[in-house]
Amino acid sequence: MKKKIIVYERLEKPVLESLQNKYDVKFLKNIDAKTNEEFLEHLKDAEGIIGLALEVNKALLDNAPNLKIVSNVSVGYNNLDIEELSKRNIMATNTPDVLTDTVADTVFGILLAAARRIPELDHLVKSKQWIEALGPEYYGVDVHHKTIGIIGMGRIGQAIAKRAKFGFDMNVLYHSRTRKHDAEEKFDATYCSLEKLLAESDFPVLITPLTAETTGLIGKKEFQLMKHSAIFINASRGKTVVEKDLIEALQTGEIAAAGLDVFEQEPVEPNNPLLDMKNVVTLPHVGSSTYETELKMSELAARNLEAGLNGDKPPTLINPKVWELLTK
Ligand code: DGY
Repeated sequence: MKKKIIVYERLEKPVLESLQNKYDVKFLKNIDAKTNEEFLEHLKDAEGIIGLALEVNKALLDNAPNLKIVSNVSVGYNNLDIEELSKRNIMATNTPDVLTDTVADTVFGILLAAARRIPELDHLVKSKQWIEALGPEYYGVDVHHKTIGIIGMGRIGQAIAKRAKFGFDMNVLYHSRTRKHDAEEKFDATYCSLEKLLAESDFPVLITPLTAETTGLIGKKEFQLMKHSAIFINASRGKTVVEKDLIEALQTGEIAAAGLDVFEQEPVEPNNPLLDMKNVVTLPHVGSSTYETELKMSELAARNLEAGLNGDKPPTLINPKVWELLTK
């Protein structure tokens, strides 16, 4: 009998088809894990689940007595209760590395778009206001030779530093849980306190994972420390920022602009004031969403899932203690 797995959004088609050839696949879209009866029914005998952003917590796991592995199709895994999964000897995996450069490109995309006011100018040109768009009130600000402040110097943070240093001749500051001597050497990056970074950066960039420590990391006090000309970029998770404080900082001119790939509530609520601000560039959480990278993420997630189901060690296991226990 084929092993049962549940696939929820997002898995690229060729990867989904390949899994369908080998497993009893239940493909469920846009599920609400608490109320979707079909999902809860299949969960009872599913050995693996794979997808993006599903909240995997105690309540869900109580309905999943046969689960061996949860394969996240993202590098961030704030949606998984790792402690609870580990307690039950369930493996959890994510998709690091394959998306690093793509997310770093996205960060520079929104940073440049906000600094050079690209969406605003695009709108003016397309609405036949070319002459108006040439006015000094639509000038942007330079990115090159400015100071970028990277909060979270993991793999993606370092890919951002590389672009900043070698692409834009920027001065690179960073703040991270641990010093990254390698990055300091390679990208001429300077480690500093969060306060100093916020006070000195033209472009404070938030790219830290969402954890208990980073929830609400940037709020009123932090925005007050920033330059009035600062352009704030968030490509981590919406909840690393106190969004109402960000809105206020933009409304009062505490900071100049923002580029956001993530929001406290996703999809963003239609009445969110950020959506009416011309100095805010928005994306629908698509930092890693290119054809190439989404496929690589799906492939890696599927390799993780299959390894877990076959009794092999998944390539990018988040909770290796479970593997050690299972193979003792
Ligand atoms: C990730 O992989 O964590 C990115 O945010 C895309 O979801």
